[in-house]
Order: sequence, then C-alpha cells, then structure tokens
Amino acid sequence: MAVAPDPIIVALDLDGRERLLRIAETLRGEVETVKIGLEAYTHMGPEILMALTEMGFQVFADLKLNDIPNTVSGAVKGLVQKGAGMLTVHVSGGRRMMEAAVGAAKGESDRLGVTMPLVLGVTVLTSLDDAAVAEIGWSGNAADTVLSLAGLGLESGLQGVVASAREAADLRASLGTQAVIVTPGIRLQGGGHQDQARTASPAEALGAGADYLVVGRPVTASADPVAALHEIRTAAGLRGRA
Ligand code: C5P
Repeated sequence: MAVAPDPIIVALDLDGRERLLRIAETLRGEVETVKIGLEAYTHMGPEILMALTEMGFQVFADLKLNDIPNTVSGAVKGLVQKGAGMLTVHVSGGRRMMEAAVGAAKGESDRLGVTMPLVLGVTVLTSLDDAAVAEIGWSGNAADTVLSLAGLGLESGLQGVVASAREAADLRASLGTQAVIVTPGIRLQGGGHQDQARTASPAEALGAGADYLVVGRPVTASADPVAALHEIRTAAGLRGRA
C-alpha cells in the first residue's frame, strides 16, 4: 500500500467516555482515524465505536482478538456492525482463525453494503523486547518472530500487520508493496517511552515503509493534544491534515 492519505492514527486509550469524546472533539478535522483499544472498549462498550464513526472518524477497533475461529468470527461481525474501518486479530491465533476473521469481515460488510474493514494481524507487541520474546518461548528474536508471523498473517488472508517501526523495512521487503504496515510505539526524541520497548520516531517509521503510525499517549496525555499532533506531523515531515 502507498502511504495512506492520512497516515497518523491517534490511539484513544482512556477509561472515561466524557474525556475521550472531549479529546476526539478537539481532534475532529485534525486526524482521520482514531483507535479504540481494550481500555476504552471495556469501559464504554461497542457504542463508543459508533459515536466516533458518527463524528466522522474512521475507527480502528484494536481489540487484538485471539480465540477460536468461531468466536473471533462472531466478534468481527459485531465490529463490522458497529462501523469499524480497521480491526486487529493476533496472528498467533493461527491460520484458521485469521481466515475465519477475514471471511466474517467480508461476509458481514457485503451483507450490510459497507466497505470491508482492513483486517490486520498483531505480530509481536511493541512492549516486548528480545528477552520477553525468549521468555514466551518463541524461537527467534523479536524481529525474526515479527517477520515469520507477518508472513503467516498475509498467507492467511490478512491485509496487513501491526509491528514496531524497527521491523517495518524488513517487513516491507518481505511482504511487498500491497501489505498495510501499521506501526505503534511512535515517540518524539526526548519524549518518554512509558511501557513501550521497540520505539521509533515518526520520520523513522515512515522512512522504513510504514503506512500508518499509531500515536497514543504523546497526544492524549498532552495538555494540548492538537499541538502535540502537529508536532508529530512536523516530525514525520507531514504538514497539516492530508
Ligand atoms: O500510548 P502509545 O503511543 O504507546 O499507544 C500505542 C498504542 O498502540 C496502544 O493503543 C497499544 O495498544 C497499541 N499497540 C502497541 N503494540 C502493538 C499493537 C498495538 O503498542 N503491537
């Protein structure tokens, strides 16, 4: 995929609906896609996806589904019904689960007459370093594991993967131009890393071939989320909203 029209995705990892919607309101017109993860979803329920869609955002439902094929397929149908434009499943859920997820996304969006969401695979969480990967029992280091999981994900019908920007260049080389690469763990120089281990700057991520950069706390924890977003765009070499 060529770089998305607006490659920045803001992760709204918050537990209060009012605050989340207040930040979303300030970001309206400033960013195309916002991401809802487990924190907001479990506190606010699926209606938050619809509220943000109605505000005009593309909504990325990053629930990182990982269960048996039948259960994941049911959950994906629910997410399509709530308007998700992008969603994630764990590649470690296996080929049959990923095929079921893609089938459900296609079937349900066809049934509703809406655009099929991008179904993306989570490879290795950006919070995991090589030691954590070894402890889990994966045989390679984080980078090798990302590459092999990504290959399996694409083979199983996923349109792309989520990985750290540090692996993006190798992923682009191995997956080709069509695959969507989403990179979280984006930090400005001098900014805190919090719980992220494999971080990169916005320019590094785009330079390495990422299509989308996920930015959470650098924006949502800022006293001025719009100014923080502009700073990220400037650091990425992007100007204003595409
Ligand atoms: O606040 P921060 O910028 O660290 O947020 C990163 C976001 O990306 C979080 O919502 C997190 O769930 C998500 N994510 C990640 N690593 C992955 C996949 C998703 O950090 N591999």
